Amino acid sequence: MANPAHVAIIMDGNGRWAKARGLPRLAGHRAGVEALRGAVRAAPDLGIAWLTVYAFSSENWSRPKSEVNDLMGLLKIFIRRDLAELHQSGVRVRIIGDRQGLSPDIRALLEEAETLTAANTRLNLVIAFNYGSRDEIARAAKRIAHAVEARLLPPEDVTPELFAEYLDTTGIPDPDLVIRTSGEQRLSNFLLWQAAYAEFVFLPCYWPDFSRADLVEAIRTFAARDRRYGGVTARDVAS
Ligand code: IPE
Ligand code: IPE
Ligand code: MG
Repeated sequence: MANPAHVAIIMDGNGRWAKARGLPRLAGHRAGVEALRGAVRAAPDLGIAWLTVYAFSSENWSRPKSEVNDLMGLLKIFIRRDLAELHQSGVRVRIIGDRQGLSPDIRALLEEAETLTAANTRLNLVIAFNYGSRDEIARAAKRIAHAVEARLLPPEDVTPELFAEYLDTTGIPDPDLVIRTSGEQRLSNFLLWQAAYAEFVFLPCYWPDFSRADLVEAIRTFAARDRRYGGVTARDVAS
C-alpha cells in the first residue's frame, strides 16, 4: 500500500520520560517540543502531506495549574521561535480545537501562524490545541442547529459529508495513520470522527524519544496493512 498522506500523532509520555530521569515534568514537555521539531522535519521526506499533532486536549485543563501554564508557555515559545523557520521550509500551519477557551495573546499567535503560512504547500502541520473530539462535534452540532433554526439549512441536508464541513478539520483529509507513543492504547478524545477508517500504530517509546526511525517503522507497518473500508479486497474478489 502507498505511504500514508495524513499521519496524526498522539504525542504521549513526556511526563514519564522526565520521571524516569528524575527531572520535572516541564523538562519532559521541553524535550517533547524537540521531538516535534524532528517529526516536522522528517515528514515531507517520507511523503507525508498532512501531519496532525495532539498537543493539548480539552481535558488537559484538569492538570495542576503550573503544568497547564507550562504547556501554554511552550506553545507560545514554539510559535514565536519556530514560525519563521516553519514558514521558510514551506510548512502551512493550521490549528484545530476550541480557540474561545484560549487567552487572547495565544489566539493572536495562532492566527498569525496561520495567516503567515497560508500559501505554503510542502507540509500541512495541524496542531490540535485545546482540542477534544466530543467538544468539536458538539460545537459543530450547535452551529448546524442554529443554521436549521434560521431556516438556512434544511434538516434533510445534514449528511456525514455536510457534518464534516462543520468540524474544525473541514478541508483536511481524514488521517490514514494514527500513531500513539508511550504504550497507551486509547484515543483520549482525539479525531473520533475523522479516524473512522484510520490504521493505528501504538509505540512503546515515550514521545521525547520518538525518532525519524520510529516514523519510518510506523509507515512500514501501515504499508503492510490491508484497508478494506467495509468492503472486500481485490484479492478476495478474484478468489
Ligand atoms: C503528553 O505527555 C503531553 C501532553 C498531554 C500535553 P504527558 O504529559 O501526558 O506525559 P505522561 O503521559 O504523563 O507520561
Ligand atoms: C492525550 O494524552 C493528550 C495529548 C497527547 C495532548 P493524555 O496523557 O492527556 O491522555 P490520557 O489522560 O492518558 O488519556
Ligand atoms: Mg499522557
